[in-house]
Amino acid sequence: MTAQPIASPAIHVQGLRKSYGKHEVLRSVDFDVVPGSIFALLGSNGAGKTTTVRILATLLKADAGAASVNGFDVATQPANVRESISLTGQFAAVDEILSGRENLALVARLRHVEDPDAIADDLLRRFSLNEAGARRVSTYSGGMRRRLDIAMSLIGSAPVIYLDEPTAGLDPEARIEVWDAVKELTRYGTTVLLTTQYLDEAEQLADRIAILHQGRIIVNGTLAELKQLFPPAKVEYVEKQPSLEEIFLAVIGGGDKCDADGTTTGGRG
Ligand SMILES: Nc1ncnc2c1ncn2[C@@H]1O[C@H](COP(=O)(O)OP(=O)(O)OP(=O)(O)O)[C@@H](O)[C@H]1O
Ligand SMILES: [Mg+2]
Repeated sequence: MTAQPIASPAIHVQGLRKSYGKHEVLRSVDFDVVPGSIFALLGSNGAGKTTTVRILATLLKADAGAASVNGFDVATQPANVRESISLTGQFAAVDEILSGRENLALVARLRHVEDPDAIADDLLRRFSLNEAGARRVSTYSGGMRRRLDIAMSLIGSAPVIYLDEPTAGLDPEARIEVWDAVKELTRYGTTVLLTTQYLDEAEQLADRIAILHQGRIIVNGTLAELKQLFPPAKVEYVEKQPSLEEIFLAVIGGGDKCDADGTTTGGRG
């Protein structure tokens, strides 16, 4: 297993720049992602997260700088980069009319993997979509769609997966289900580049967090390192109130996977 040289970064980004007309979005972005880790790119609306992901997915050309993925240069070896990645975009890309199982099997066929139906069944099980597998995706809740989307990104075993705001627009319960799905990815050694504007999402999932702000990475470190940057100014004793999220989850009864059998999803449609 360890007969390889010391792991070079799964993603290497250096001096990346990108403007749209006069609007400078990326002004010199640098970061590295260790293989098998989850790296969160954190930034507010319009910070340039999707722009960065699109460059790393070879869908967009940078104006300057260098980037490589799985050892391949995005500018000069785009085909190798595309073979190394799987992209789950900001908006779920599942087919509404097909069932979850059919969506998975279709993608498996398109990616020429052996035994698409077995792959589909395995992924439905791993992402807790077993019961709903035969239903049309149009009947799924937002969280189920996102889980299906992430399951699809695993087909073909790309070593690097990009998840662009995987929980945007989901309720707290569905977000936690998606977080579990994302954690599942790294159990298989997959490298995950995740973009998010939710601080708690980065806190929950990421081995490393980078903050993209005004075109640059202004902070990059583990959560512990980031906390070190801002040590508490003074120690205060306060009664800790539960957050609204904690109250919400306690009231609705946390562990219930109520959408698995379809009984609670009708109200959303
Ligand atoms: N094709 C384009 N043409 C012109 N401007 C663009 C284009 N794509 C993105 N932009 C602008 O570039 C900036 C960065 O956009 P980007 O989509 O990368 O941000 P983001 O961090 O993904 O934001 P969000 O959190 O809203 O998804 C925004 O101001 C956006 O309006
Ligand atoms: Mg975006």
